[in-house]
Amino acid sequence: MSEPIAITEQAVSDAVDAALAALATATDSAELRAVRSAHAGEGSTLAVLNAQIKSLPGDQKASAGKLVGQARARVNQAIAARETEVVALEEAQKLAAETVDVTALPTRRRIGARHPLSLLQDRIADIFVGMGWEVAEGPEVESEWFNFDALNFDADHPARAMQDTFFIDPPESHLVLRTHTSPVQVRSLLERPLPVYVIAPGRVYRTDELDATHTPVFSQVEGIAIDKGLTMAHLRGTLEHFATQMFGEGAKIRLRPNYFPFTEPSAEMDVWQPGAKGGARWVEWGGCGMVNPNVLRSAGIDPDEYSGFAFGMGIERTLQFRNDLNDMRDMVEGDVRFSQQFGMVV
Ligand code: PHE
Repeated sequence: MSEPIAITEQAVSDAVDAALAALATATDSAELRAVRSAHAGEGSTLAVLNAQIKSLPGDQKASAGKLVGQARARVNQAIAARETEVVALEEAQKLAAETVDVTALPTRRRIGARHPLSLLQDRIADIFVGMGWEVAEGPEVESEWFNFDALNFDADHPARAMQDTFFIDPPESHLVLRTHTSPVQVRSLLERPLPVYVIAPGRVYRTDELDATHTPVFSQVEGIAIDKGLTMAHLRGTLEHFATQMFGEGAKIRLRPNYFPFTEPSAEMDVWQPGAKGGARWVEWGGCGMVNPNVLRSAGIDPDEYSGFAFGMGIERTLQFRNDLNDMRDMVEGDVRFSQQFGMVV
């Protein structure tokens, strides 16, 4: 128990002054707690004075009680007021510390982009998947047999020459970099139960020099459908639908007789591109035809029972005339700024 102090106005007002002075220096809740306990807590001067009231003579109790009571009320009020200030202060400091400067330059990770060829390839696949077709793949290093023989190419067909086709060493391996996606026709027929409706996008290789319209590596998309009773009308209808999906309403196709060893009859296919920059026009788009019975036989299929059609076109070429690109080299150089122009859709 602290020393008894006389309950005088001076003693009370000193205690209040001390409390207010201490309060003024309290700037956070910890300091405030310390001030509260020292000046308003059990051992504080005012509490000690208050405790002494009961032992005063009866006639002094009332005035002493009023004096001390008012002082304590004043100190408690001051503490409460300071508390409000300190809480606000702490809140403001916290907000300041957590401030995010939305105008600051972020550190950016440079993001890449999907290549427009991949986008276009996916889009083509989607169109056919929408008709119930499946997507197939074949190897880029292909056996000469799948690339040529099974597709009814003669042994001395000019496409087999070294100046057209990349052969893999040693020559006895009979491996080539596939020159077209057509070997996937035969692979699909060997791997899948009939009927077969397959689309096969992928990379192909020819010994072309790189220029504005040729690259030695490029992409094609192959389609093959083998079923009972398929005719040229199905080929036309399929390509017509494909053309409309790719080039919009009003697109149509035109077939011109041509020759491929693996289709008979064969045709060169042109597409009417209604929205072409500079005006609607016919553009040569790809090759197609009814699958040659010899190809069906290569895959062990009876051509009297099954028939079908196939088609193939270049994806770079499609991207070039569809999206009005001048130089095919942009597509192989891998500059991300080229790809970024296309966003996520072509
Ligand atoms: N493979 C042929 C080419 O590369 C295109 C084609 C595919 C033609 C299917 C007919 C049928 O030119």
